[in-house]
Amino acid sequence: MHWQTCFYAIFLIWCISLLPGNKSEDLKRKKRESKKSNGYPNLSSFPTNFFTETYKKFVNNRPIIGIIPMPMDGDKLLVENPTAYLKEYFGGSFVKLIEMGGGKAIPLTEDLMFNKRKLRKLLKSINGVLIPGGDGDLADSGFSIISQEVVEYSRKQAKKGIPYPVLGICRGSQMIMQLGSEEEILRPSDSSNLTLPLTLTKDARDSQIFGHATEDLLRVVQEKPITFNAHIYSVLYETFEQHPELQKQFRVTSTNFDRRGIKFISTYEDKFAPIFGLQWHPEKSLFVHNPVQAVDHSIFAIAVAQYISNVFMGFARQNPNQFKTRREEEKHLIYNTLPLYVGNVTETPYEQIYMFPLFSPKLVNRKVKIPLQR
Ligand SMILES: *[C@@H]1O[C@H](CO)[C@@H](O)[C@H](O)[C@H]1NC(C)=O
Ligand SMILES: *[C@@H]1O[C@H](CO)[C@@H](O)[C@H](O)[C@H]1NC(C)=O
Ligand SMILES: *[C@@H]1O[C@H](CO)[C@@H](O)[C@H](O)[C@H]1NC(C)=O
Repeated sequence: MHWQTCFYAIFLIWCISLLPGNKSEDLKRKKRESKKSNGYPNLSSFPTNFFTETYKKFVNNRPIIGIIPMPMDGDKLLVENPTAYLKEYFGGSFVKLIEMGGGKAIPLTEDLMFNKRKLRKLLKSINGVLIPGGDGDLADSGFSIISQEVVEYSRKQAKKGIPYPVLGICRGSQMIMQLGSEEEILRPSDSSNLTLPLTLTKDARDSQIFGHATEDLLRVVQEKPITFNAHIYSVLYETFEQHPELQKQFRVTSTNFDRRGIKFISTYEDKFAPIFGLQWHPEKSLFVHNPVQAVDHSIFAIAVAQYISNVFMGFARQNPNQFKTRREEEKHLIYNTLPLYVGNVTETPYEQIYMFPLFSPKLVNRKVKIPLQR
């Protein structure tokens, strides 16, 4: 009967090897080793704990976000396309940043600056606004007048305890800060085509924008050069320090140095409303792949950009505004406008753009410079 004992012994050993404890120990060890080997921070696959903290306050799972276009500048060669003249525009990437957070976009076109009643009614039908980047004129354009209306509305709502988030990106973030001061606050900055790790301020951890980040996400954003800068003007930290009216209104959450070593504000927020300014471009990490730009497309940049979208749309979900009828909503949605593919135009910083006709007589009559030919 010796062979039988032997058989049972082998069978028993085989069974033990199948026990979950052993196998998971093995997996854990392998995981540990692989983490050790690449030396990267351990980025969690769910880069925000926003959900667990605030889901009780989510009242609106169909958030709609307005995006403010800006006049196309003929001389900036954004788009070598004859249909681009006398139009206003924004990058398709901004629409996608909204959509990836579960929302829908509508354009807040320039004609609204001449009809404040219509503008206000529209702002009361949507759940937040994105003020995008681009070459927009900051002075008395539709872009600036509509932005001002939006920021005021958001602050009023915040006083009533209703979040109405506003996200300014690049030019948009400069716009919001500029609206807070009578003086011209933008200064030249050598920070075009530059990816940087953020230097978070001591206020960042308790801020509205980074307060919901996991530790590893905060670490990634500070260690890795993943935030893409594309600006030749900045709000310098020094300027901010010289303006008490700005310090009263805004909390700086991160800073950076430009190529000349001058410190500028890279992320900030309103102290009293969910209004955010990013001098950098999360949407480009996700959606703009033109190799003429030094955009970082690593999984770390993607996770940080997705985090920004989730936080912003999380605030929008706490806003109960809606259109009176479905018909009215449909009329405004971005889906009524087709995006134009421009990513094959070598120097354009977009893959797709949306364009809308300009109404302002001042802008229509101005001289549009002939763009370079290629
Ligand atoms: C990642 O996690 C592993 C195991 O939990 C740990 O040993 C390692 O130090 C972590 N790596 C970093 C860079 O934090
Ligand atoms: C931007 O930076 C990248 C990477 O450094 C470089 O390859 C590219 O030529 C730069 N683009 C411009 C327009 O300077
Ligand atoms: C880019 O693509 C569009 C759409 O396919 C086309 O009409 C245009 O001629 C292309 N432009 C260049 C510079 O190749």
